[in-house]
Amino acid sequence: MEKILVIHGPNLNLLGNREVNIYGKESLDSINAKLKKEAERLKVKLEISQSNHEGEIVDLIGSAKKDFKAILINPAAYTHTSIAIRDAIAACGVPTVEVHISNIYAREDFRQTSLTAPACAGQVSGFGINSYLLGLEAAVGLIRK
Ligand code: DQA
Repeated sequence: MEKILVIHGPNLNLLGNREVNIYGKESLDSINAKLKKEAERLKVKLEISQSNHEGEIVDLIGSAKKDFKAILINPAAYTHTSIAIRDAIAACGVPTVEVHISNIYAREDFRQTSLTAPACAGQVSGFGINSYLLGLEAAVGLIRK
């Protein structure tokens, strides 16, 4: 079965407790369970990781090619700061979909620029945790197009 690498960036381990008015009450475990259920329906296999460390995320992306057909990533705050993650996505040769729970274009100025999205096939932003499910469907679409 085709495998997709899911990467959750910094502070997403705190979902459910963190700024619930923006990110909602659902925990990361609950989101991951929903992603896995959707993956079953779409007949793909997921490997899911969360990291608060930029270099670790760069390493995960950099070694994705041998095992994964697509990457689904929420780079979280690194979206707005990380040229290293953007370059890793551009270099890895694995089609990547960026997702955000909140609509980053409706928030503070500093969130309205994504350094990482231009290296991705596309971005889903602003649909709550549904952004992840829509992003997964888009990633599968890229694999099977
Ligand atoms: C986020 C948006 C980012 O601006 C923020 O730093 C996050 C989460 C989102 O999913 O809405 O940590 O990526």
